[in-house]
Amino acid sequence: PLPEHCDFTVFGGTGDLALRKLLPALYQCDREGRLPEDTRVLALSRAAYDDDAYRAIARTALAEHVPAEQHDLTVVERLLGRLHHLTLDVTDDHDWHALYGRLKDRRDFAGTVRVFYLAVAPVLYETICRHLGSGGVAADPSRVVLEKPIGHDLASARVVNDAVGSVFAESQIFRIDHYLGKESVQNLLVTRFANTFLEPLWNSQWIDHVQITVSETLGVGDRAAYYDASGALRDMVQNHLLQLLCLVAMEPPLEVGREDVRDEKLKVLQALRPMTPEDVDHDVVRGRYRSGYVEGRPVPAYDEEIAALEAGDGTTETFVALRAEVSNWRWAGVPFYLRTGKRLDRRLSEIVIVFKATPTDVFPHREGLTEPNKLTIRVSPDEGMQLHLTAKEPGPGGYRLRPVSLDLSYATTFANRSPDAYERLLMDVIRGIPTLFMRRDEVEAAWAWCEPILQHWAASGLPPKPYPAGTPGPSAAFTLIERDGRSWQEYL
Ligand code: BG6
Repeated sequence: PLPEHCDFTVFGGTGDLALRKLLPALYQCDREGRLPEDTRVLALSRAAYDDDAYRAIARTALAEHVPAEQHDLTVVERLLGRLHHLTLDVTDDHDWHALYGRLKDRRDFAGTVRVFYLAVAPVLYETICRHLGSGGVAADPSRVVLEKPIGHDLASARVVNDAVGSVFAESQIFRIDHYLGKESVQNLLVTRFANTFLEPLWNSQWIDHVQITVSETLGVGDRAAYYDASGALRDMVQNHLLQLLCLVAMEPPLEVGREDVRDEKLKVLQALRPMTPEDVDHDVVRGRYRSGYVEGRPVPAYDEEIAALEAGDGTTETFVALRAEVSNWRWAGVPFYLRTGKRLDRRLSEIVIVFKATPTDVFPHREGLTEPNKLTIRVSPDEGMQLHLTAKEPGPGGYRLRPVSLDLSYATTFANRSPDAYERLLMDVIRGIPTLFMRRDEVEAAWAWCEPILQHWAASGLPPKPYPAGTPGPSAAFTLIERDGRSWQEYL
């Protein structure tokens, strides 16, 4: 149920995430009447802004990040009216008392849903939670929202989870993986579990392999300091790609909306075959972009982008491709090929389920090509699904076969606008629905699987393979799949 009163507190209120994602998402929720009527938004930062100064910043951010046709001045003013800025230096007790005072000084404090959104560097999570606990504002129905990265490896993830968990119960903790808020990702659950025709085929008997690609054209830009300490495996695979893999591979949950989906995803993570050092050498490719051309524009090499950093040791990868296996009854023997990278030739996220060939060739004298059946789930851009089939080309005479596809485009099928992932996720936090957030055990299981890869890379000290920006990544990523007699799906 929608609570009546809500205090939505954003640590890092002047940061990129708050201005680019959170405020626009709150705006859309407000515009569509989904926010509780009595909602206050408290933006916290170290800056000495008063409410008016912050509202001016917010107004500019909304003008920039909300599409013009959805920009409604009445709603903008209503949202700005909910906004307040509080100067808070996390090391200053006086500032904290001001925050406690603001939160407690409202009618029905005990019945107010307090959301604490930590849009700040993870090193601050522990301090912030400790203060929220000692200030008496962390009790249910308070909730805390954590952005990734949750740790840097398994041990550090546990430290963060312990620190947050010593103040908030697991049911109060919402760990964001924004991929789970994407429409097409949720539609994967619906496609699999609200239809009957796929499920009997959804296993190693009929599926040959699965491909998951998240390809970006962006470089690291002004996130160099964070990125260089992370790399593509930590930044994308440990969370987004493994979450997509889980949704493809999981068993049917009893019901969506309770813990069942998270329970089933956890079992998939636990079934991922751990990699030995030899597996890492054989089944994981890492790359790093050199300079090149992306969409016709010259772009610098990763090395140039991080030149100003002191720490860079030249081994951070901006691309990963790997072959994983889910060792359970349903999936044994079906490879899952994952790849992701920055500064590639196109921006595209998709999941491709490739089915096996027909058991016998009933059209031996055919003309034309046949291809295996494939189901493509396009996450972005142009969300949709395609089912690739073989059809007969009309005409007399023999059989001329041709690959064709059934296309579902969200944009043409549904009149509704496709909301940004954060809109759905913020409302789920306010309502207290945890399904689309990562539970502690999931985060740790994902780290546990990544850890041997990270350790072997660190031990071997081998640099990533270079690839020119604007290409589909290092050639080794193609060898990885082609040596198995398969190939990455060609984009249409
Ligand atoms: C973030 C990563 O989690 O996801 C970024 O930190 C990445 O490096 C981004 O660019 C991709 O998200 P999207 O929604 O643009 O595919």
